[in-house]
Amino acid sequence: MSVKILSITLLLVSMCVCFHSSEGTHRRHPGRIPPCCVDVTKGNMTAAVVGQTYREQAATPPCVKAIIFNTKDGQQLCADPDAQWVKDLTAKMRKV
Ligand SMILES: *[C@@H]1O[C@H](CO)[C@@H](O)[C@H](O)[C@H]1NC(C)=O
Repeated sequence: MSVKILSITLLLVSMCVCFHSSEGTHRRHPGRIPPCCVDVTKGNMTAAVVGQTYREQAATPPCVKAIIFNTKDGQQLCADPDAQWVKDLTAKMRKV
């Protein structure tokens, strides 16, 4: 009799554990990537930039003032608008 109660208790406890762990995995991620540049690259990234267009982003915290280029791997590159290589590139490109 008591063995039965013990096994039911164990079953309930393990169900509880399962419920909690699944709740954890289904919780939304709080640290989602913001859809803007929060940091800029200062180093010369000329070699990685592709395409003939760039975008300009205004500073709206946490976003910072940035020039957004397209790169070879299909990613977007956030560049410092004051960097010389950025000025050189944008002078040859079209703003979108
Ligand atoms: C950045 O690098 C490119 C070649 O990758 C070079 O032509 C350009 O002069 C460099 N610009 C600066 C500001 O260093």
